[in-house]
Amino acid sequence: MASVTSLSDSVQQHLASALSATLPEAAGADPLLRRSDRADFQANGILALAKKAKANPRELAAQVVSQVVTGDVIQDVEVSGPGFLNITIADRAITANLAARYADETGRLGVPTAADPGTTVIDYAQPNVAKEMHVGHLRSAVIGDSVVQLLEFTGENVIRRHHIGDWGTQFGMLIQYLDEHPHELDHKDAEVTGEEAMSNLDRLYKAARRLFDSDEEFKTRARRRVVDLQAGDPHTLAAWQKFVDESKIYFFSVFEKLDMEIRDPDIVGESGYNDMLAETCRLLEESGVAVRSEGALCVFFEDIKGPDGNQVPLIVQKSDGGYGYAATDLSAIRDRVFNLKANSLLYVVDARQALHFRMVFETARRAGWLNDDVTAFQLAFGTVLGKDGKPFKTREGETVRLVDLLDEAIDRASAVVREKAQDLSEEEIAERGAQVGIGAVKYADLSTSANRDYKFDLDQMVSLNGDTSVYLQYAYARIRSILRKAGEVRPAAHPELELTDAERALGLHADAFAETVAEAAAEYAPHKLAAYLYQLASLYTTFYDKCPVLKAETPQQVENRLFLCDVTARTLHQGMALLGIRTPEKL
Ligand code: ARG
Repeated sequence: MASVTSLSDSVQQHLASALSATLPEAAGADPLLRRSDRADFQANGILALAKKAKANPRELAAQVVSQVVTGDVIQDVEVSGPGFLNITIADRAITANLAARYADETGRLGVPTAADPGTTVIDYAQPNVAKEMHVGHLRSAVIGDSVVQLLEFTGENVIRRHHIGDWGTQFGMLIQYLDEHPHELDHKDAEVTGEEAMSNLDRLYKAARRLFDSDEEFKTRARRRVVDLQAGDPHTLAAWQKFVDESKIYFFSVFEKLDMEIRDPDIVGESGYNDMLAETCRLLEESGVAVRSEGALCVFFEDIKGPDGNQVPLIVQKSDGGYGYAATDLSAIRDRVFNLKANSLLYVVDARQALHFRMVFETARRAGWLNDDVTAFQLAFGTVLGKDGKPFKTREGETVRLVDLLDEAIDRASAVVREKAQDLSEEEIAERGAQVGIGAVKYADLSTSANRDYKFDLDQMVSLNGDTSVYLQYAYARIRSILRKAGEVRPAAHPELELTDAERALGLHADAFAETVAEAAAEYAPHKLAAYLYQLASLYTTFYDKCPVLKAETPQQVENRLFLCDVTARTLHQGMALLGIRTPEKL
């Protein structure tokens, strides 16, 4: 199915040809078109062009207007203010354009795919082995999953990497501790899996950490154990593998609860780069990008200094020969650039790791692994806060377990669904409760721009009014119910019909779906799509209040309004899917 040119693109083309007919030197200039309250669109670009050509802007605008072809897409264009153009779209064009989108049997609503797509490796949903997942891991998973959907929808070739924390000192510590305290995971524990097993491992991890921090001799034994692990000692490796396997079962259960598909081959943890670490260091040292300083292999940066004014280096290899987080990330870059052939590397990681990534990316640039054609970007996200505006903690001051939070969201949502439910069975209420609850959590995360902190407030998240996923899901379900009620009467476009203001506003907004998706994907900004969908649902609500659908005056009008309903529903459905959120047929 061919993609559909949006109305704003058509207007843009009309204006561009009128502009170059009037002022040949302005060929290719941007007329600066945007949606407007005064007309359907306003173009402000003539002001700057007039200034450059030393012409009177209103006169130039009037000349351009006389060159604009009207009748098909543009109904009317007039000069306003100092030299703006106010543009009104023909009703017929609005309906016809939506009809072309509606005819796209792929469900893509005529959204184009890139002719020459690139390859993006996206690093997201990266929890740590032997630790329970907390709200911070929620953000990376939810934002990352939506960006994956958005990029794939635009045709980008996307490779997912879950860079789980499965390597390093903490595993030496854990394995050593368990060897010395075998009774702490007794037989009963050995039989449980998933959440419970993870909770046991988490407890063990904390006990090991306490000992590591307080007992110097244990610390030495644990460190030796890391060396054994990295050297591939079979007994140590087997113990490590058990932790990894157990943790993965747990990760998968959490991701399933999140209604998110995570595939095993895409999980390439820190350990996956172990064989590359020594070579990464050698390459950096030989090229002079990294230098030895007090035994450690370091990269220095002019502008990165500590409180004492001395430069703070990126440590690639410690003085005891051990490799850390930076060596792994630098090796992962080499893998992603040279083996996976990525043009862009994207990291959905907490903003608090911004300095680490700045140093890692700059090091990779100096080494020639990154350049103008192969770029890296940290999509940094802010902190999840409690209602009190402080980082989210339990009443006891502990980090909140992600599963507890998701369970609570599902409970709350189920209560909302049950209250509104008319013809839903218990089973349906449970299913919808999960879809609404998980949707609420995802939407709250995705509807603010990623770099900002946000408050985790379940009351607000499952509210039926306001900018929530529940509001959008109800709008969708309401439309589906009207379409069911219509029975034999099918939606059909009638471009010859005049449209009311509410229909025009809804139609013009629905037509802008393609642009919104393109912008949200290009800027890695799911919140722009969320804002678009919320506005779509609001415009639908106005339309529905003002325009009777099944009781419209003529049969053509009934069909045309059903058609507007269906276009809106399909747009909501597709848009929500790109946010990773379900749209149940009934609520
Ligand atoms: N596992 C890390 C954490 O929980 C996040 C990993 C981010 N990705 C990376 N390539 N460093 O904080």
